[in-house]
Amino acid sequence: MPDPLTENEQWILSFYRTSEINGALFFGRLARAMKPGPIQRDMTKHFADESQHAWYWTECINRMGAEPLKLSQAYQDKYLEAAGIPANIMEVLALTQTFEKRVIAQYARHSRIVDLQPEVLDTFNKIIDDEKWHIEWVGKALKSMEGEYGRDTIAESLERYRKVDEEVYGAILKEHEQRVAELMRGRGNHAEGKGPWPWPV
Ligand SMILES: [Fe+2]
Ligand SMILES: [Fe+2]
Repeated sequence: MPDPLTENEQWILSFYRTSEINGALFFGRLARAMKPGPIQRDMTKHFADESQHAWYWTECINRMGAEPLKLSQAYQDKYLEAAGIPANIMEVLALTQTFEKRVIAQYARHSRIVDLQPEVLDTFNKIIDDEKWHIEWVGKALKSMEGEYGRDTIAESLERYRKVDEEVYGAILKEHEQRVAELMRGRGNHAEGKGPWPWPV
């Protein structure tokens, strides 16, 4: 049996689970509304991946002898409120890219921990290829829209959502940052951590 999860670890892993569920719900609603075509297909796969990730974190927490915490959902509503309803598919994808980058930055930071529990490492390993693909397909789709929407308009949308993201997630991210910092103090922080995330954070 692994070491029992600290309250801090249980919160962080539960936060990941909740983020994945939020992603699944967001992309699921979009996938349902898409007209036929490659974006409909990729968005559906994206939705299915995030649902699966929510299950992986649930399973991970269970394997470590605990249950996921029920966390507040308020920030998700605030996020969509501040971002507004995207006016077109380009804006939907720009918002998606922001969402994905946020998640990846969180996982990359956590994976820097040297003494990562095998259950957590295993879960990161199961998720990494999907998350790489999410950034990739959305990036390609946005590039393919440059002719229709204009490169500058796409760049402006990405910048606008990045600002909204920073603003709305500020409070909850602060808590996440503090908790991960605490975890790193306890478990050792090193650039050579064995986590699978190659991105700098
Ligand atoms: Fe995910
Ligand atoms: Fe994702």
